[in-house]
Amino acid sequence: MTIRITGTGSALPEKIVTNFDLQELVETSDEWIRERTGIAQRRISMGETVATLSAAACQRALEMAGKTAEEVELILVATCSPEMLLPCCACQVQDIIGASHAAAFDLNAACSGFLFALNTAYAYMQSGIYKNALIVGSEVLSKLVDWSDRGTCVLFGDGAGAAFVEASAEDIVRDNGRKVGMECMVQGSDGTKGMVLSCAERPVDNAFISEKQTISPYIQMNGQEVYKFATRQVPACIHQALDKAGITAEDVDMFVLHQANVRIIESVAKRLKADISKFPMNLDKIGNMSSATIPVLLDELNRGGRIQDGNRLVLSGFGAGLTYGATVIVW
Ligand code: COA
Repeated sequence: MTIRITGTGSALPEKIVTNFDLQELVETSDEWIRERTGIAQRRISMGETVATLSAAACQRALEMAGKTAEEVELILVATCSPEMLLPCCACQVQDIIGASHAAAFDLNAACSGFLFALNTAYAYMQSGIYKNALIVGSEVLSKLVDWSDRGTCVLFGDGAGAAFVEASAEDIVRDNGRKVGMECMVQGSDGTKGMVLSCAERPVDNAFISEKQTISPYIQMNGQEVYKFATRQVPACIHQALDKAGITAEDVDMFVLHQANVRIIESVAKRLKADISKFPMNLDKIGNMSSATIPVLLDELNRGGRIQDGNRLVLSGFGAGLTYGATVIVW
């Protein structure tokens, strides 16, 4: 038994905000942002929500897979920026698309969220509980960003990506001899470093507390610590995943990495001794959308015909938590 991705979809807000637009808000420049991050523009919500973007991405993924919403058994939405604490976003998506037979819940592993959701679905399917799932990474980070903080506001964007995954009992073997499906996964967390990238919810407050706490509701980040973590941990967990699958970086056709920073991706490529051409990127156009970056890039590659049957992909991400993961898939 294995699971394979049979449909992908994505949805982005209409509004484009360029680095030049940000120059009007904070003391920064297009040159600084491009050089340090590789980002030129991002999409920003003008009313689109985590739920509506998720639903649109799911509908596209289902359409590609040739499935109806009624056939969906599980919906997992990875997000750290839902509009509602209750109901969860996955239940909102269930309602919008009409997936009346699905169990639905959210999961928060920040930028690694899509991978953690994919791995969770894999575990459910391995144990025979569900036969298919809609996996979503969706964020509207623009509402969590302090638009006067140049250290963070230039990095993030809004959007959603989805994948429809199905369990297959029979092996499908491609012409190159590779068996289709998920080969292995590695995931991990380091809560001791959690505060290097954080965003607070409401503080403890109730009728019995007289001293009110005030907190910043915006993203706080120690960029250099996150950078160090990513450039060390991402290659380490990819190596672990490759070892587990019994392969080397040379056996991988494409590394679909979390799109946070072009310098981080280049550093990972160097540490893996893999050619940078195997690392597709789209962060110049859409910035860091946390859990949405990997599924949005996957959808772009899939719809653009850049993934061939039998290709081996490594999906890998890192983010707040701190969390990290790598998953090896044959298409
Ligand atoms: N425009 C212009 N100057 C800026 C700026 C901006 N948008 N943001 C920060 N600066 C300034 C700083 O204030 C600092 O000025 P100073 O030297 O006068 O104090 C200077 O640039 C250097 O800041 P620093 O934070 O050391 O820059 P950096 O080289 O570490 O680059 C990041 C900053 C955020 C691009 C980089 O640390 C990074 O990419 N980290 C990873 C972040 C990430 O990926 N987060 C998401 C994880 S999912």
